[in-house]
Amino acid sequence: MATAFAPLSMKLVFFSFAVAILVGLVSSSRFDELFQPSWALDHVVYEGEQLNLKLDNYSGAGFASKSKYLFGKTAIQIKLVEGDSAGTVTAFYVSLLDFLSLNLFVGGTQMSSDGPNHNEFDFEFLGNTTGEPYLVQTNMYLNGVGNREERLNLWFDPTTDFHTYSILWNQRQVVFMVDETPIRVYTNKEKKGLPFPKDQAMGVYSSIWNADDWATQGGRVKTDWSHAPFVASYKGFEIDACECPATAAAEENANRCSSSRERRYWWDEPIMAELGLHQSHQLLWVRANQMVYEYCTDSTRFPVAPPECDHR
Ligand SMILES: *[C@@H]1O[C@H](CO)[C@@H](O)[C@H](O)[C@H]1NC(C)=O
Ligand SMILES: *[C@@H]1O[C@H](CO)[C@@H](O)[C@H](O)[C@H]1NC(C)=O
Repeated sequence: MATAFAPLSMKLVFFSFAVAILVGLVSSSRFDELFQPSWALDHVVYEGEQLNLKLDNYSGAGFASKSKYLFGKTAIQIKLVEGDSAGTVTAFYVSLLDFLSLNLFVGGTQMSSDGPNHNEFDFEFLGNTTGEPYLVQTNMYLNGVGNREERLNLWFDPTTDFHTYSILWNQRQVVFMVDETPIRVYTNKEKKGLPFPKDQAMGVYSSIWNADDWATQGGRVKTDWSHAPFVASYKGFEIDACECPATAAAEENANRCSSSRERRYWWDEPIMAELGLHQSHQLLWVRANQMVYEYCTDSTRFPVAPPECDHR
């Protein structure tokens, strides 16, 4: 009997040892290690540890991660355009695509040319006239279909200080956070036939551009170019995620980026499968007090609520 137990306890020891090694690609803070300017390089301005994206009547600007990732967390500290920012949009997003593709669908028009499986998680900060509040719009594209906009008011002025905006993405959920307070959660409901983004390595992007055809008060307030340049500032760049080589096939990435017995990613720990109690309370508070718009309750746009809305 005693010998029969030995292999089992050996296994247990080995197993807990394996679990203790939590792997992840921890990358932090320095812009150039993780990102590069992606368009209008002369509108991407370094200022010490801070990076500024500038919008004027010639151009906006953007940056992109050098790599693509499957699961993990990305966070950036952003200080949004001060004073009059009406007509401007600053975006921070995780996507298969770069800004130019994003630009195809600003204004709510559905994009057409990017394949059927495109996934994307967006923060879009909609500017306003001096003294009026920014709105934060979030959206998700799943299998090429977006139209999942939500809008909320922040509980602070995002133009006076840096605040941390982050996206956590694992096999169970996608969580949008503002200063670690969850504002939106998309839970994996594949068992109920709902799409979940888990097959596609994605990049991390940010950009600022003119969107005065829709952004501020529904497009009624136009960009006042006499107040240009409009500047959004960034620091504290973080991507702690499973990096995928550009040449790797989807299946290879799926293997590389799922936790196994030998290799556990922190975002696959059971505790990351859903929000903790404190975070659940924070989310309830945000949704009760800060929400301005939810596509799920927009019966003009959706006479029949989209399927994921029934399950919340
Ligand atoms: C801008 O300010 C107005 C007035 O407070 C508000 O109704 C609107 O939601 C704000 N945000 C945007 C993006 O229009
Ligand atoms: C851009 O705006 C500046 C300041 O308002 C103006 O002098 C200039 O002519 C504008 N340039 C273009 C290309 O519109």
